[in-house]
Amino acid sequence: MAKHILITGGAGFIGSHVVRHFVNQHPDYQITNLDKLTYAGNLENLIDVENHPNYQFIKGDINDDRFILKLFEEHQFDGVIHLAAESHVDRSIASPNEFVLTNVLGTVNLLNAARHIWHENYTGKLFYHVSTDEVYGSLGDEGYFTEETCYDPHSPYSASKASSDHFVRAYHDTFGLPMVISNCSNNYGSFQFPEKLIPLFINNIRNNKSLPVYGKGENVRDWLWVVDHARAIDVIYHKGKIGETYNVGGNNEWKNIDLVKVMCKVMDRKLGRRQGESEKLITFVKDRAGHDQRYAIDSTKLQEELGWKPSVDFEQGLDKTVDWYLQNQEWLDNVTSGEYQKYYRQQYEDR
Ligand code: NAD
Ligand code: TYD
Repeated sequence: MAKHILITGGAGFIGSHVVRHFVNQHPDYQITNLDKLTYAGNLENLIDVENHPNYQFIKGDINDDRFILKLFEEHQFDGVIHLAAESHVDRSIASPNEFVLTNVLGTVNLLNAARHIWHENYTGKLFYHVSTDEVYGSLGDEGYFTEETCYDPHSPYSASKASSDHFVRAYHDTFGLPMVISNCSNNYGSFQFPEKLIPLFINNIRNNKSLPVYGKGENVRDWLWVVDHARAIDVIYHKGKIGETYNVGGNNEWKNIDLVKVMCKVMDRKLGRRQGESEKLITFVKDRAGHDQRYAIDSTKLQEELGWKPSVDFEQGLDKTVDWYLQNQEWLDNVTSGEYQKYYRQQYEDR
């Protein structure tokens, strides 16, 4: 059945892949992308779909409750896929309030609007909240996050995402709002703002700049190709059970330092540099405050109940990703100017 879906944060990294996926895979759906275009939102990410008849972009702020309510009154949305957020842990340490505003209050504004417009008939409606594995806290050497793992966030970012997850569940339990939540591991791929590890280091290697590895580089992350996250969101949107949570992960754990060394090798090969040259750029810097040691997702529920699995292995995914950044140097140069440079100096000057 044709649907009108509101995707929030669709000009960001994951959001742009979700918009592209839904516009292309569901030509009978109407896709509305709502984004404030913060430093992380970039309409250049969506040039290939911007003229599709089933796509429209609306610039707006989820923190503006009256605007959000009016938007829901004017459009007959059947569903919301909510990705808009402040998403970078280091920024949340420097400036937590923006995370509370957008990630918590912004989410509640959307929940209020959806409830207000839909409450007389919830049939066919869905509020899909996109969240992170970071709400579960930090693992030791053993074990995995499952959907039953207790929340234990450590950074202002993960605390704000945990809070938003609780509100989404509370609106289901209290008001009957139909919802699903997914908690995903670290994503990588094209169009990621180069403040996050992989695009930052690709860009720095390209420019022969140092590679600031926090602490000893011993922290572990579970990396998933962003296109596979977009595919998972589609599967969960259509087949997920109302009220349920699904963990999404790549079953692909890397210690930061090992990942950085692999990136250096791939980049040396692609840039025609001598093997070992880029590794010389690695610099160990002061650790991130409250740095979670290890994230690892158990995505058995999603795989067994809904039939999703990643489509690429990490070697292929990383190769495609490095190629994309090297072939889209203009995109990288555009986003690494202005505001980002100021932030970059603040973040790294004193380390
Ligand atoms: P991103 O920072 O690249 O994009 C966020 C987008 O939200 C931007 O386009 C920004 O302009 C928009 N936005 C921010 N504040 C807004 C506001 N007040 N109103 C409207 N739009 C606003 O983030 P991302 O990495 O694409 O993450 C998207 C979502 O997925 C987030 O909710 C994040 O918590 C979650 N997530 C991310 C990862 C990851 O590895 N990046 C992993 C799991 C979950
Ligand atoms: P990041 O991409 O910020 O994602 P998250 O903190 O949400 O997992 O960081 C991934 C890992 O890389 C994390 O352990 C912190 C580390 N890191 C560095 O060592 N140096 C950096 O410059 C950045 C941005 C991250």
